[in-house]
Amino acid sequence: MSKVHVIDHPLVQHKVSLMRDKETGPKEFRELLDEISMLMAYEVTRDLPLKTVEIETPICRAQTKVIAGKKLAIVPILRAGLGMVDGIMSLVPAAKVGHIGLYRDPNTLEPVEYYCKLPADAEEREILLVDPMLATGGSASAAIGFLKKRGCRNIKLVNLIAAPEGVARVQEDHPDVDIYVAAMDEKLNDHGYIIPGLGDAGDRLFGTK
Ligand code: PRP
Ligand code: URA
Repeated sequence: MSKVHVIDHPLVQHKVSLMRDKETGPKEFRELLDEISMLMAYEVTRDLPLKTVEIETPICRAQTKVIAGKKLAIVPILRAGLGMVDGIMSLVPAAKVGHIGLYRDPNTLEPVEYYCKLPADAEEREILLVDPMLATGGSASAAIGFLKKRGCRNIKLVNLIAAPEGVARVQEDHPDVDIYVAAMDEKLNDHGYIIPGLGDAGDRLFGTK
């Protein structure tokens, strides 16, 4: 069974609360998502392997640690996942970026695929699949399925807010994928929206409603 990591640092909780507020407009919403994604990346990358190198400080030679060249790819689920890319890239600037386009059919709540472009060597990389909202889990589960079909085996799912239903779905379909969230919410409403959540992440990010 995969693990769920709740990144509940006070700064993260504070910023998530600002994002939830319906009075927060697209500019501030985007900035907050960017900042939280950077803070989450700090924890998500905690297990990156290190290697020892020898360098010369102004005082003496020293053995010290650097990241052991592990290759990362950030894969946002369009649209809303785009808002998490820059914050993570600011900590891991050498990461490559793939895109998976999915939208949730408002009637069936089933994911519909419209785009998939991944780095050529995606299967050799650790993938950070990012999307602010994990609601029914249909979109995330389908996106992980696409990644696995492309040979990716080392995948982490990074969400801002998750509902228990979405976590259960991903754990059931993909028990090998760990989930990182800033907040675990209560449940879904009848339209598949997270309660209390923050509304429609894509619309709030891009000001489309
Ligand atoms: C939202 C969100 C997730 C999905 C979550 O995207 O960004 O991708 O819903 O719902 P699920 O867990 O029930 O699948 P949406 O379908 O609204 O598309 P958008 O980002 O283009 O607005
Ligand atoms: N997608 C969103 O953007 N928000 C939700 O609460 C559920 C799905």
